[in-house]
Amino acid sequence: MRYAVGYIVIILLCLTFMNTYPVVNMRTMLCESKRSAMQNQSAIIASSLSSLTVLNPDEVEKVIRLLGDLDMTRLIVTDQAAAIVYDSSDNEGNRGRYALFSEVTSALEGNFVFYYKFGDAGTRSRAAVPVMYRGKVIGAVYLYEYSTEHAQLVSALRTNLRSISLAAFAASLLLAVLLAYLLNHRMRRMVRGIKSIADGHYETRIPVEGRDELDELARELNVLALRLQQTEELRHRFVSDASHELKTPLAGIRLLSDSIVQNEDMPPELLREFATDIGQEAERLSRTTEKLLQLTRLDVTGKDKLGPVEVDQVIHSAMKMLSVLATERKVTLEQKLGEGCVIYANADDIHQVVFNLVENAIKYNVEGGRVTVLLYARDGDVCLLIDDTGIGIPEEDIPHIFDRFYRVDKARNSARGGSGLGLAIVKDTVEKHGGRVTVSRRENGGTRFSVRFPLWHEKEGEA
Ligand SMILES: Nc1ncnc2c1ncn2[C@@H]1O[C@H](COP(=O)(O)OP(=O)(O)OP(=O)(O)O)[C@@H](O)[C@H]1O
Ligand SMILES: [Mg+2]
Repeated sequence: MRYAVGYIVIILLCLTFMNTYPVVNMRTMLCESKRSAMQNQSAIIASSLSSLTVLNPDEVEKVIRLLGDLDMTRLIVTDQAAAIVYDSSDNEGNRGRYALFSEVTSALEGNFVFYYKFGDAGTRSRAAVPVMYRGKVIGAVYLYEYSTEHAQLVSALRTNLRSISLAAFAASLLLAVLLAYLLNHRMRRMVRGIKSIADGHYETRIPVEGRDELDELARELNVLALRLQQTEELRHRFVSDASHELKTPLAGIRLLSDSIVQNEDMPPELLREFATDIGQEAERLSRTTEKLLQLTRLDVTGKDKLGPVEVDQVIHSAMKMLSVLATERKVTLEQKLGEGCVIYANADDIHQVVFNLVENAIKYNVEGGRVTVLLYARDGDVCLLIDDTGIGIPEEDIPHIFDRFYRVDKARNSARGGSGLGLAIVKDTVEKHGGRVTVSRRENGGTRFSVRFPLWHEKEGEA
């Protein structure tokens, strides 16, 4: 409504201008044309009269008659003392009287005088010029005209402008109302959509019909709704996966403890075995919850604790921690670490990435197998390769390997105690630091994980 009112006010201002400016302009033009016409006419009369030495009534009348029809309301000729010698309106009666008009007085002083007055009924124009003989003023010619022609012209123009303005105003009013209605309609539709999304109906989409700013807004809102929908679906899946993962070990613990409680004469060895199993399940639970916490922390941690990280140092410490596991599994660890591989990151996060990848390479390896870690800088990137000679990942599982809770062989991994979260953490962490992680099958069996991070340059500072 406010826009419509603003629009109407602007239109009204334009129309007012359109109704006044041309009229004022036309009046000025008409005045100018009358002025030059009367100047010419009075000059012709004055020059015709200047052939007479003295202005005597009969001679003057003769000259004027010779000039023919003058198309003037009144013509007065005076001598140099302003006494009327000739008056077109009343030839005899006024003769000899003094024409004491200011125009005549001024003309007798040698000036051309013009006066124009516009009235709605008619215009009055007066002009006076001196009559000269050998450089001397011998009289004056005074012209007066009353005409309705100019008034009629101006009034016709006014009427025309008024009708055009009225039509334009009506059209723009209609347009303003129509536009306001359309805009209002679209706004309401958008607000309805937003409300529905805010109420949790993320599948709602706002209709997009064109390419103007409102459509652009609707498109962006739809993108936002889609994001919310995806996030919501992900959250749903995550919660159900997580509860399923937590349920399994809990059910195991319950089953084992129930058996212990119900079986009063359980042999001590069996009791110990069951208690050990309960301990293992509890450990798995705590590992899973620890990893889940880690994933949520990744989602919320900001840019604090970031700094230049020497990746070879991080690899060293992670490998040291994993050497016990490697010995236990009879897997050989090898490392070839290039120098100058510095990235801008959080050192704990990078440690986690290396640890998870090398841990997998050891866990899913075979007895007597080998794990090789390679680090080098190339093309502005720091590349980290982790190769193993293990059991490998089937082709069809590769696209899902980074999904949360995804395990290639549930039975196999349960035995090894995996939660299926390690690689999800790796992927989130690497991407958080602007890197990329990929996996491929090695030709002679085994798996290769490849991680790339942008190389840090000292000049860039915190870039
Ligand atoms: N180097 C590898 N060789 C063969 N299979 C692998 C390798 N790395 C991962 N996998 C497979 O990918 C699955 C997912 O690995 P991920 O590290 O995410 O989970 P996990 O090792 O089972 O559990 P954890 O959360 O304890 O790491 C594993 O269960 C395993 O089947
Ligand atoms: Mg793992």
